[in-house]
Amino acid sequence: MADKARVAVMVSGTGTNLQALIDAQKSGLIEKGEIVLVISNKEDAYALERARKEGIETFVITQKASGGRDGFEEACKEIIDSRNIDLIVLAGFLMILSKEFVTYYDHKIINVHPALIPSFCGDGFYGLKPHIAALERGVKVTGATVHFVNEIADGGEIIAQKAVNVEEGDTPEILERRVMEQAEWLILPVAVAKLCRKIVKNRK
Ligand code: GRF
Repeated sequence: MADKARVAVMVSGTGTNLQALIDAQKSGLIEKGEIVLVISNKEDAYALERARKEGIETFVITQKASGGRDGFEEACKEIIDSRNIDLIVLAGFLMILSKEFVTYYDHKIINVHPALIPSFCGDGFYGLKPHIAALERGVKVTGATVHFVNEIADGGEIIAQKAVNVEEGDTPEILERRVMEQAEWLILPVAVAKLCRKIVKNRK
């Protein structure tokens, strides 16, 4: 539909953030956006099942099959550009994209990071690692950040953040779940909704 921004989501794993976006689209929260494409770099990502259930077009592009990161990115560009994508959302996506790729899609890619940037971010801080580091440091508050993606890992302009309390006895897994439930799954859909409204408005 012309009056909606066309959204692609890149995933690597369980896809709970993708599910939050799908639910937000169905509830009308993401009123001016439509998820039309999901790309996974892992063929066993459960996120793909979530997309297929909704009839969203999916692609699996593994670095192995596409000859490394360059081949992966070329294949992604071909699909993304042929589908006229307006916004690319990295949701539980665990690859570091090249400077060339993120520059080509300047200010069109956003990411959700499971910590309050600039804490516990950058190279190597993915999956449980931000939560392990937060517990090791003894912070009382952590959270999630949505940011634009640039050539520096987790270094792009911050769009939204939400704080989450660290509780006595938290394990990394318990903290990860709380950060997803109380932060990621809330701020990512709101950020996508806002950006889609802006994209559609700027078309007029
Ligand atoms: C989330 O904490 C995400 O921020 C991180 O991996 C976890 C699972 O993401 N990258 P998802 O369930 O695949 O969206």
